[in-house]
Amino acid sequence: MSLHDAHDPAPRIRPRRLRQSAAMRRLIGETDLRPRHLVLPLFVREGLAEPKSITSMPGVAQHSLDSLRRISVEAAEAGLGGVMLFGVPAERDAHGSGATDPDGILNVATRAIVAEVGEALVVQTDLCLDEFTDHGHCGVLDGQGRVDNDATLERYTAMALAQAEAGSHVLGLSGMMDGQTAAVRSALDAAGYSGVALLAYSAKYASAFYGPFRDAVQSQLDGDRRTYQLDPANGREGVREVLLDLDEGADIVMVKPALAYLDVLRQVADLSTVPVWAYMVSGEYSMIAAAAQNGWLDGERAQLEALLSIRRAGADAVLSYAALALAQKGLLA
Ligand code: PBG
Repeated sequence: MSLHDAHDPAPRIRPRRLRQSAAMRRLIGETDLRPRHLVLPLFVREGLAEPKSITSMPGVAQHSLDSLRRISVEAAEAGLGGVMLFGVPAERDAHGSGATDPDGILNVATRAIVAEVGEALVVQTDLCLDEFTDHGHCGVLDGQGRVDNDATLERYTAMALAQAEAGSHVLGLSGMMDGQTAAVRSALDAAGYSGVALLAYSAKYASAFYGPFRDAVQSQLDGDRRTYQLDPANGREGVREVLLDLDEGADIVMVKPALAYLDVLRQVADLSTVPVWAYMVSGEYSMIAAAAQNGWLDGERAQLEALLSIRRAGADAVLSYAALALAQKGLLA
């Protein structure tokens, strides 16, 4: 039987009842976006005296140690969930030595930020070699110039110990090497760091949307990462990587980028037994920021809508370059 009476054109079912006032919409809303749901990625560059803005990421800067401390305090005051630190070293080499050096920029910055805001924020560090290698790949290379998976795992375990020693609460495994979660977990446990959590960038795709990030970290990469990051065509393979990371002991799994992979995110959210995060990456941030600079759309509303859609697709938390600005403007309350 139809819900409509053929003789009475007035609808009996009126979904608009639930949208008629701001108070009703607030009560009915299914998904929310609070400061605690967001993690702010931060870049710290060795040798900088003042922050330096990143042209391809309007509103984002490479930080000095001092400005990194200041912005981390602001992030804590704004109630964000955490910060994710990326280091930009002054010198690079084939093995990414700066990543494992206790005096390397990322480890120095981690100690400083944990001392400053470690009680109020979850301080996280990127665990990958690409910022530290002179060839820009996420791992070390073999004699033929290919990324050597198992030799890279040795570098990752050393890097994990350096980051744990520096006080990082969560290590962000973003290198897409096979077995990295298990290798890092056992190295940490053997060294007495069983309390350090692992965020596995499980379904990380080889994406053009990382473009501005490569400027932000002054990446030396010439080529691409398609032998280790996922093919954008493959959803099932992303789910497989998540299942492997769950098996290897990941505490949190991630889908990255976010907006172009909301289908993968939904599948992962439906099966994961641990929290699921997503990374709204540099290009996803910057295309909105650039359009806003041109007056083509409302940048804040567009960032909020994108982040809300990522939460709606199943992310418990989201890494976002807009996190602090949105929180400070009271748009996440
Ligand atoms: C690897 C890493 C990258 C990003 C986060 N971690 C770069 C890459 O894989 O090429 C990209 C994040 C972004 O684009 O915002 N260290």
